[in-house]
Amino acid sequence: VQRYAVIGHPVAHSLSPRIHAAFGRQTGIALEYTAIDAAPEDFDAALAEFAAEGGVGANVTLPHKARASQICTYLSDAAQRAGAVNTLIRTATGWQGDNTDGVGLVRDLTERHGLDLRARRTLLIGAGGAARGIAPSLLDAGIGDLFIVNRTPERADALADALALPGRVHPRYLDDVGSLGNFDLVINATSATRGAALPSLPVNLVAPRGAAVDLSYGEAAVDFLAWARSARAHDCIDGLGMLVEQAAESFHRWHKVRPETDAVYAMLRDRGA
Ligand code: ATR
Repeated sequence: VQRYAVIGHPVAHSLSPRIHAAFGRQTGIALEYTAIDAAPEDFDAALAEFAAEGGVGANVTLPHKARASQICTYLSDAAQRAGAVNTLIRTATGWQGDNTDGVGLVRDLTERHGLDLRARRTLLIGAGGAARGIAPSLLDAGIGDLFIVNRTPERADALADALALPGRVHPRYLDDVGSLGNFDLVINATSATRGAALPSLPVNLVAPRGAAVDLSYGEAAVDFLAWARSARAHDCIDGLGMLVEQAAESFHRWHKVRPETDAVYAMLRDRGA
């Protein structure tokens, strides 16, 4: 049996083992997929131990995505642009790093939710690892102008610089978000959750028929989605679909088979995720 794992901290509540087990059953591929908890200072050792025990592929989640991109002998274009790795593939010469978060998000929005992203005027709230992971794919998918706001403005500037499309990507101050007009797509890529709430957002931020998307799901997405409903967003979408789609993309890279995601998504939804 081939060994796979998700490495994170904390990782106990990760849905990835369930998702990959379900994909394995569906495709008839025997695999073992476990969760490995590793504090930041233990990441390299935990990964080396996993490889020594025969691990051939891993997902990397918070807070290790940037570190993982530094230990790879080869990075995909997506991983290079994101500066972060969520998928590791064992090769004869070391780990190959990829990032499937962005394509996973775009697939969820366009195929599951039927959104046409082309020319959508987009606001990205947050400029950390999650924002960096998805911004290149959104631009590739043909969104219109991308405005980036962040609590720490220097990070919004840095992300905009890294995207290197000055005519299309605009960092702005979070405090000025009310003066930017409205957006066809508003994405919450911050890790602000209940208790450490987002700064208040104006309810006229979402254009008519616009969509609001939180990259997280479950409890962590409750506040932003409540705001999205009060802002009358036409689509209020959490990150569960993106989670399943990025997992399917990783599965495809490891096993060369593309699993069907709708049944797994429905199963997790039914169980209250
Ligand atoms: P991730 O990989 O989840 O993006 P990260 O790199 O630590 O994690 O980035 C967290 C993001 O959430 C950042 O954009 C952060 O803003 P700062 O760059 O100013 O730290 C944002 N964030 C976290 N808590 C927040 C809060 N309470 N209000 C506003 N933004 C918050």
